[in-house]
Amino acid sequence: MSFDKVHQEKHAVLSKAVDEVCEAFTLTSEKLHELTDFFVASMEKGLGEEKEDAEYRGLPMIPTYVTGLPNGTENGMLLAADLGGTNFRVCSVELQGNHKFSLLQMKSKIPEELLEDDSVTSDQLFGYLARRTLAFINKHHPEYLQNKEKLKLGFTFSYPVDQTSLSSGTLIRWTKGFKIKDTLGEDVVQLYQKHLEAQGMPMIRVVALANDTVGTFLSHCYCSENNGSLTSGEIVEPVMGCIFGTGTNGAYMEKIENIKKLPEKVRQELLQAGKTHMCINTEWGSFDNDLKHLPTTRYDIDIDQKFSSNPGFHLFEKRVSGMFLGEILRNVLVDLYRKGVIFRQYPSEEALPHRLRTPFDLSSEVLSHIEIDDSSQLRETELSILQSMRLPTTHEERIEIQKLVRAISRRSAYLAAVPIAAILTKTDALNKRYHGEVEIGCDGSVVEYYPGFRSMIRHALALSPIGPEGERKVHLCIAKDGSGVGAALCALVA
Ligand code: BGC
Repeated sequence: MSFDKVHQEKHAVLSKAVDEVCEAFTLTSEKLHELTDFFVASMEKGLGEEKEDAEYRGLPMIPTYVTGLPNGTENGMLLAADLGGTNFRVCSVELQGNHKFSLLQMKSKIPEELLEDDSVTSDQLFGYLARRTLAFINKHHPEYLQNKEKLKLGFTFSYPVDQTSLSSGTLIRWTKGFKIKDTLGEDVVQLYQKHLEAQGMPMIRVVALANDTVGTFLSHCYCSENNGSLTSGEIVEPVMGCIFGTGTNGAYMEKIENIKKLPEKVRQELLQAGKTHMCINTEWGSFDNDLKHLPTTRYDIDIDQKFSSNPGFHLFEKRVSGMFLGEILRNVLVDLYRKGVIFRQYPSEEALPHRLRTPFDLSSEVLSHIEIDDSSQLRETELSILQSMRLPTTHEERIEIQKLVRAISRRSAYLAAVPIAAILTKTDALNKRYHGEVEIGCDGSVVEYYPGFRSMIRHALALSPIGPEGERKVHLCIAKDGSGVGAALCALVA
């Protein structure tokens, strides 16, 4: 057989194997309907179930004690701190009362050892957060250190917390890589406050605890010029905040009468005080942890069971969020290698480049370069994989890798549309006003930077139960810096 013929046959074998994988990542309109219906049912169940502990497997649907939304007229100077999956940010926020704000911030990358080392304690983590807070105050507001008056701080904490009031909540479980055992069940506000005081900042009071999705939602409401009293008419209603970044999650307003899990006394008090709605942190990363409806490939099972820090939980997040997209591709590539159809120059698995063998070493950012590569011979892809993974590729391999990347990202975006369609359906938001247009405040690296992610969500929304007509009424808006401003807004009302 000629060299060319052998070459073509090898490509055909690889191509066939890749097509089978891509097929397993495809979501049909029927599946989107099934998942959306199940999401609505899970929301209803979650609102009724009281349990918020580490063993709970349903959709958490956590009451946040936020009972109103800002309209852009709020004023004040507040502090905010935000612990996410990758960074810790401290900010001072000046709300100017006209949908505008100014913000000073210090962002620090969370040290690897706090994420990776199993022996890290709560005191080490919160001690670090307090020291970074002090560094921020020293740099931007040294005058605060002499303050006699209390300074209010809103704390954005982007992990599942069982919230008992606006300013207290105990950690249910870590996600996004943290593993610190002794934080579980502890009140994270008290921990942070204790360490702020130990660092000589008793004047700072942590008065509000907010999930990042709640922060994003509130900040979008504040910033949206379409919202509230400063504009002549109500045009578009902000209905939810969501994050598609290292992790994924969403928050929306639910009628208090529907939140059956709230203690009866609290519910009655709120209703008597004229409150009608409360913001719910859905923790949708945990949707369908029992895998009754979520599409599941062997790669999803391996990532959850062998490589993740919280096996059996946050299974929706493990198919959607930025922390996992690269890891899914890595698992597929290693599997194709084991099948003998790719990277054939390596004689054994041990000989593969170290980064291809190391869990979570393939970053989702690499996928974003490959996704839109239209260079000749896919040279951009070649360079990106070579630089990030030290892995040389042939043109044929790159064609197939690009197919895989697009299948993985499309599944992620299609799944991302499910909770959005479900919340719009459950709240009937699209039929509430004359035109029924709604705004969704989104934040996170994937929705902001992954090429085409928002259009893929829109395609899926059109295929979902809200249909093309519903999809046209949805505005997916980027709410930048959402969590900092949102935490400040929470602190303002506390
Ligand atoms: C956490 C959520 C958070 C989301 C986005 C998830 O892993 O459980 O609380 O909102 O990531 O940051």
